[in-house]
Amino acid sequence: MKSSRAAIGSMLICWAGGVYAQSTKMPPNPSVLWTVVEQKLVESGDTQRGKKIAERCSHCHGEDGIGVEPGIPNLAGQVPAYTYKQLQHYKAKGPRNHNPMRRRVRRLSDQDMADVAAWYASLEPAAPDLSQPQAPEEILKLVERGDQKRGITACAACHGVRGEGAPIDTPAIGGQKFEYFLATMQLFAQRDRARDVYNSMCDLIGRLTDEDLRGLGRYYARLGGHKMAAK
Ligand code: HEC
Ligand code: HEC
Repeated sequence: MKSSRAAIGSMLICWAGGVYAQSTKMPPNPSVLWTVVEQKLVESGDTQRGKKIAERCSHCHGEDGIGVEPGIPNLAGQVPAYTYKQLQHYKAKGPRNHNPMRRRVRRLSDQDMADVAAWYASLEPAAPDLSQPQAPEEILKLVERGDQKRGITACAACHGVRGEGAPIDTPAIGGQKFEYFLATMQLFAQRDRARDVYNSMCDLIGRLTDEDLRGLGRYYARLGGHKMAAK
């Protein structure tokens, strides 16, 4: 419940903040609205079929769902509805523009996407990246309590206290790669990446400094991945 309240809060912030937003560009529309049919489809994901499909992805995302290069995101242990939605976003082109990814997903059916999302969700999330420094107090505060003065909701309110993500489609960010984390935050800031239907990340991002973003990226990489508890 806490996270849905936070989501509504952020939606209001986005409406009010829109007038003052740094970028006047509208973020692209998300392509998944979570009808009952879509939710059921994701729940029906078949891991063994998904494993087969993922053979085409493993030279980049790794056989174990851990990206083989710094800019390639980890998918292991990810919330399946989130993975499914991102695949739809690459296929639709616009919500997320990335040609190599688009080429890989354009022939996947909705069922294929649900299956491959189930496969990655079943894998062991990334180990803590201990090469990253310990997070300073200000970063822990942003994660756990946010910053009321700047209108920043705590990351943990939506992404969970261990960065494990939440239903329906809030991603796990614990254990994500630092370089990918920064790059994708940049896309949100430039409004080149679709948000979810609540606009969760839209204006929040404009309130974080570069230093905050780097600190948060390091914190979540060092934390390592955790799986969202099964419903
Ligand atoms: C050529 C390398 C490559 C291949 C092959 C590839 N990906 Fe990706 N994938 C990437 C990169 C790079 C990104 C980050 C792109 C961006 O910034 O939007 C990405 C992003 C993603 C994301 C979004 C992750 C997130 O946290 O938002 C998902 C999901 C994904 N890929 C799944 C797949 C699946 C499923 C396949 C196979 C059908 C696949 N990828 C094949 C390189 C690849
Ligand atoms: C109101 C809820 C909410 C809050 C607060 C929030 N997020 Fe998010 N975040 C989301 C949702 C939902 C998405 C998925 C957006 C989409 O559909 O692409 C997301 C996406 C992300 C992503 C992209 C993940 C990926 O794999 O590509 C990162 C990184 C992220 N958030 C970091 C943060 C950080 C750091 C904070 C705290 C400063 C934060 N978020 C606060 C809801 C939230």
